Amino acid sequence: MVKVTFLGHACFMVQTDSHKVLIDPFLTGNPQATLKAEEVEADAILITHGHDDHIGDALAISKRTGAMIVANFEISSYLGRKEAKTHPLHIGGSREFDFGKVKLTPAFHGSSRIEDDAFVYLGMPAGVLLTMGGKTIYHAGDTGLFGDMKLLGEMNEIDVALLPIGDNFTMGVADAVKAVEFLNPKYVVPMHYNTWEIINANPQEFVDLLKESPAQAVALKPNESLSL
Ligand code: NI
Ligand code: MN
Repeated sequence: MVKVTFLGHACFMVQTDSHKVLIDPFLTGNPQATLKAEEVEADAILITHGHDDHIGDALAISKRTGAMIVANFEISSYLGRKEAKTHPLHIGGSREFDFGKVKLTPAFHGSSRIEDDAFVYLGMPAGVLLTMGGKTIYHAGDTGLFGDMKLLGEMNEIDVALLPIGDNFTMGVADAVKAVEFLNPKYVVPMHYNTWEIINANPQEFVDLLKESPAQAVALKPNESLSL
């Protein structure tokens, strides 16, 4: 069994009996988080892009737990220089790890961070296809809608798609509904909404718009899980 737990905003824990993989571990300063960065366990940490609400506590969690950080080359190099254990991938590239397989997919967004009043640019933003325990999880990262999501849906049997619906910085509800059509997942979980007023969205509207879809939409509250 694979358990996918929503930890608030765009942060998820994916776990099997043997491994725990954390995606976009923004817990400190995340108004939706119910878990503290100091108490989370992980074997690996996947990061979609360089924004603070996605890199989050990755460095501290990696140093405390020994979890390997998997991200694009720029984020991996940046965190590697701060003495985290990292593995670089890049878009279109995949690799088998002991916990499962990770592939980076395109995303249309930014990937910068401000350090000492200067922009540090951390490569292209990405989405992630994670296959663990025989299930495939697609975390879209922060992105607008794009047509190649159709290709991702055709080439992968996606068990659950984690899609932003908060609008303003990413897809809103209507575009995310179109993304579900393209991706054709078994389940879809909305994310990246209601963390702050600027990304307020109604998850029930998203669920209702997908009533006729073959995909089952599940709006998880922070700390709720979906079992695959
Ligand atoms: Ni972002
Ligand atoms: Mn974000």
